[in-house]
Amino acid sequence: MMICCLQTLLLLGAQLVVSLAAPTVPNNFFYHDYLNGHGNNEIHFSGVKLHVDSAQPSVFAVRGGNATMPCRFWYEPELSSPRGVRVRVKWSWVPAAGGHETDVLVAIGSRSRSFGAFRGRVQLRQDFPGDATLVMTHLLLNDTGRYRCEVVDGLEDRSTSVYLELRGVVFPYQHPGGHYHLSFMGAQQACEEQDSTLATFTQLFQSWKEGMNWCNAGWLADGTVQYPITRPRVPCGGHGLAPGVRSYGRRHSLHLHRYDVFCFSSSLRGKVYYLQPPHKMNLTEAQQACQEDGAEVAKVGQLYAAWKLKGLDHCDAGWLADGSVRYPITKPRRNCGPSEPGVHSFGFPPPQHKHGVYCYKSSSSVGSEV
Ligand SMILES: *[C@@H]1O[C@H](CO)[C@@H](O)[C@H](O)[C@H]1NC(C)=O
Ligand SMILES: *[C@@H]1O[C@H](CO)[C@@H](O)[C@H](O)[C@H]1NC(C)=O
Ligand SMILES: *[C@@H]1O[C@H](CO)[C@@H](O)[C@H](O)[C@H]1NC(C)=O
Repeated sequence: MMICCLQTLLLLGAQLVVSLAAPTVPNNFFYHDYLNGHGNNEIHFSGVKLHVDSAQPSVFAVRGGNATMPCRFWYEPELSSPRGVRVRVKWSWVPAAGGHETDVLVAIGSRSRSFGAFRGRVQLRQDFPGDATLVMTHLLLNDTGRYRCEVVDGLEDRSTSVYLELRGVVFPYQHPGGHYHLSFMGAQQACEEQDSTLATFTQLFQSWKEGMNWCNAGWLADGTVQYPITRPRVPCGGHGLAPGVRSYGRRHSLHLHRYDVFCFSSSLRGKVYYLQPPHKMNLTEAQQACQEDGAEVAKVGQLYAAWKLKGLDHCDAGWLADGSVRYPITKPRRNCGPSEPGVHSFGFPPPQHKHGVYCYKSSSSVGSEV
């Protein structure tokens, strides 16, 4: 230990000298409290440095699940006794969708308080001295973003960040009325109605890396309008342009400009399945058929989540809650549409047309399936 050598420094100008350990212990050390210019009683470490870091710069989780965001703090030179209530830990959040940093949780010693939408869903782990890890439960689709762990002890103030990403699926969505019908607000609402949320740029970029190729521009959570191209072609800007996520930039009039949208969905607490009808059904009959089966017509976000996260594969087109007709293919084969996996769409046929239906049964009615 080098702590013995600090004593001379620590004693400089001391008004009040407190020994944290018995003076007979060889590695004891001293700090001093002093009244600063504003009359606040601050604790000032002379030469003792506070450090904060995280074992993981990013954490992946799923909707409804838990996330553990590591953060620990320590002192150099090492302290011989815990600082307890003198340490304040604050977690805050900058949404991936953009916006201001908001408070998540503040803790002093073993007491903590959580805020807003995080109330009752977050706590500090405190498994060992200096453990400021945040444990979050019941994750929501819009919990993604940068979480900042800030530790304050006297004049020392250090922080680190952990990025929370959800595993899920991005899907393009258009209004039943046709392409380019959605204002930004309309886009937000359309995603929510399909059990999803506006996709972030990071989520769209990840989908593009996984091969997403879509020629219609859609809103993202940050108010920009973009589209992902993996195979440049003539109606999509031509062969001359490189593959990439192309941006129309931020649209300043969120009301006037109209586009499609990219939505994001993550794991389901229930199950999506194709209901085998004795005969094909119009939209009204399809709704009744799901109800009679103790379910409801599946939403578009639910069908995408089942396709991407559970490998749902079914060659029959079925009604969905928004009045569209689609089918999910994970293993492309003859007579099952395009040669790539995907949720294939027949658009929004007239409601009297006859099809099968995809139903969604929530987990309360299907046991413990996640
Ligand atoms: C999340 O954490 C809570 C409480 O710590 C626990 O009861 C629950 O089983 C966890 N859920 C998952 C999906 O791991
Ligand atoms: C996140 O989504 C929940 C419901 O899914 C909603 O109540 C909450 O307001 C949303 N939070 C933000 C910051 O948009
Ligand atoms: C569907 O068919 C039923 C008769 O089985 C009819 O009453 C209903 O109006 C039809 N709905 C639509 C949307 O065509």
